This record gives sequence, C-alpha cells and structure tokens, in this order.
Amino acid sequence: MTVLNDLHQDHVNLNKLLAVLDSKLEELKQGEMPNFVLLGDAVDYISGYADAYHHPLEDQMYETFKASGCPELDEAIIRCINEHKQLKQSSHEIIEAVDCILNDAVVPMDQFTAKLERFLDEQIEHLNLEEGTLFPLLEEVGTEAQWRILEADLPKVDDPLFGEKQKQRYMDLYTELLRDMR
Ligand SMILES: [Fe+2]
Ligand SMILES: [Fe+2]
Repeated sequence: MTVLNDLHQDHVNLNKLLAVLDSKLEELKQGEMPNFVLLGDAVDYISGYADAYHHPLEDQMYETFKASGCPELDEAIIRCINEHKQLKQSSHEIIEAVDCILNDAVVPMDQFTAKLERFLDEQIEHLNLEEGTLFPLLEEVGTEAQWRILEADLPKVDDPLFGEKQKQRYMDLYTELLRDMR
C-alpha cells in the first residue's frame, strides 16, 4: 500500500505548513500584519499541490474502493470528495483576498482573519477525516486485488504531468516556504 504511505507523507508535510499558517493566524488575531506575499504563496502551494498530485491520487483511490459493501466507508468517501471541492473553493477565496490586500484594496482584517481561520479548520478537519477514519477503513476493507488494481492504474513517474521533476519542484518550493515563513 505504497499509495497510502505517499498520501500519509503528504499529510505530514501539509500539517507542518498548516501549523505555520496557524501561527500567522495568531499574529493576525493579535493585530500584527503577517507577510501577505508568503501567506498567499503558502495557500497557493497547498491548493496547487492538492490539484496536481494529492487529490487526483485520493480521488482515484476512493473510486477504486467505493461500493465495497461498507456503508461507513461509502459515506466517508462521499464526504471526502465533497470536501476536496470545498477546500479548493476556500483556498481560492484566500488567494483572492490576499491579492486584494497586496493591491491596496480595502479588506477588513477581521473578515480576512475569519476566512483564514475557516480555511485552516476545514483543512484540519479533512486531514482528521482521512487519517482518523477513511484510511484505517480502507486498510480494513480493501482487498489485495483492489490495491493491486489501484497501483496498476496510478500515473507513472515518467508521466510528464505527474513526473518526478515536477514533484521535485513542488518539494523545493515547500522547503523554501517553510524556511521563509518562520
Ligand atoms: Fe483529501
Ligand atoms: Fe488528503
């Protein structure tokens, strides 16, 4: 189940970035101004990586395991797929708001703070659903044959859109963001 390990590692990385964003949220609540360029870049990174790698893998995995005869799993899968759409929407709202701030448009800081808080809550709730409920259920319910089918269907590393080079670029960006935002 290498795919689960990969997704889990993504979650660990995401969690670190969310923790940094949470410290920026605290600054905002104290009335301090964070570096909005970096804040926007971090949310853009989270959304971009999810669109390019993380959610396509998860969506494909959920497709493979849906209707496996476990209603609890089906329910979690449906919720998860909907949350992916919601997460995308919320990240775009933050990115848009950051753009407005950077272009000197009037953005009330309490509204922006609330938006960021909602975004972080949604992200954490989604991580908890996957790590706490969905992944354990998949390990329990999924058959060897289903895992083999999934692994065979996953995009290959030499796929230019999904390849190692692209992924390395994302990893470099991730490392830079973590370093610069501290
Ligand atoms: Fe997800
Ligand atoms: Fe995930």
